[in-house]
Amino acid sequence: MLACGPGKTIVDGTLGGCGHARRICEQITPGGVLIGIDQDQDAIFRARRLLPATGCRTTIVHGNFVDLPLFLAQLNIDTVDGILIDIGLSLHQIEASGRGFSFRRNEPLDMRMDVRSDTTAADLVANWSEPELADLFRRIGEERWAVRIARHLVRQRRRQPVTTSDQLAQLVVEALPAAAVRAQKIHPATRVFMALRIAVNRELEVLGHFLSTAVDLLKPGGRLCVLSFHSLEDRIVKQRFREMANPCTCPPSFPQCACGRKAKARVLTRKVKRPGDAEIRKNAMARSTRLRAVEKL
Ligand SMILES: C[S@@+](CC[C@H](N)C(=O)[O-])C[C@H]1O[C@@H](n2cnc3c(N)ncnc32)[C@H](O)[C@@H]1O
Repeated sequence: MLACGPGKTIVDGTLGGCGHARRICEQITPGGVLIGIDQDQDAIFRARRLLPATGCRTTIVHGNFVDLPLFLAQLNIDTVDGILIDIGLSLHQIEASGRGFSFRRNEPLDMRMDVRSDTTAADLVANWSEPELADLFRRIGEERWAVRIARHLVRQRRRQPVTTSDQLAQLVVEALPAAAVRAQKIHPATRVFMALRIAVNRELEVLGHFLSTAVDLLKPGGRLCVLSFHSLEDRIVKQRFREMANPCTCPPSFPQCACGRKAKARVLTRKVKRPGDAEIRKNAMARSTRLRAVEKL
C-alpha cells in the first residue's frame, strides 16, 4: 500500500519496534530516505541501534507525528512519497516500559508514551470528576459498567490515592457485579486501561489533527497509510479519507459543484483491510488491526 521503491522518501510516524521501518528501508534502498518518528524515547534508542544496519539513509526524530509539517520544514523537505502511521501501543510499551500500560504488571500508573508530557494516568484518575471518568470509560472505552466503575473509583481514591496498575485493575473488578466479572472473556479492566491511555496521550485529537495536514505533505501519487486498532480511531480515519476524496459540500440537488472544494486524494481501501487467519496465527497482536490508505491526486 505504501508503494515503496528505490529512491523514495518515506515517513514512518510510529517507529515502535522498527518492524515496518526495517522493511521500508530494504525497499527504498538504494537512494531512499526514511524519516522515522516516535514519541517514546525507548523506541528512538531502539531505532538508533537497529536502523543503521539497513544501510538506508535515515533521520530519526523523537517527537509526535502531529508535528510532521514542522519536522519536514526543519529538514528542508516539502513533500514525501509516503507516510505510514501504525497507532496504538508497541509490545515493548506493554511488556517492558514499566509505565503501567497493562493490568498484567504492577507498575506506576503512568501511561505516557512521551514521558516529557505533563499528565499521567494517575493524575487523571486523581483529578477528573466522576462524570468525566464515567464519560471517558463509556465513550472511549465502550465500557458497559462505566458509571459503576467511576463511582467506585472516586469513592476509593478518597481513602487512598490510586497510583499503580494493580490498584486500578483491582478497583475495576470490585466495581463490577460478580456475574459480570465471570462472564467477561477479556480482563474486566481492559477497556478502562485503554480509555485512560487514549486520554493521557490525547490519541484521538492527535489523529484528527494529523489527518488534516498529512495529505498536503505528499507528492502527487504519494500514499498515506494508517493502521489503527480501535473502532473510534478507524471511524476518524474513514471519515477524513472520505472528505479528502469527496470534499464537496453542495446539496445533492445542485446540478454542479458551487463550493469549489476539490478532491485531494483517492481512497485505495474502499473496504477496510483486516488481517487474514494466517497472519493472526503468526501474530496474535494483529487481530484487531485495520488498514486504510489514500493516494494523493
Ligand atoms: C504499534 S507501535 C508501532 C510498531 C511499528 N510499526 C513496528 O513495526 O514495530 C506504536 C508506536 O507508535 C508510537 N506512537 C503512538 N502515537 C504516536 C504519536 N502521536 N507520535 C509519535 N509516535 C507515536 C508509540 O510510542 C509506539 O512506539
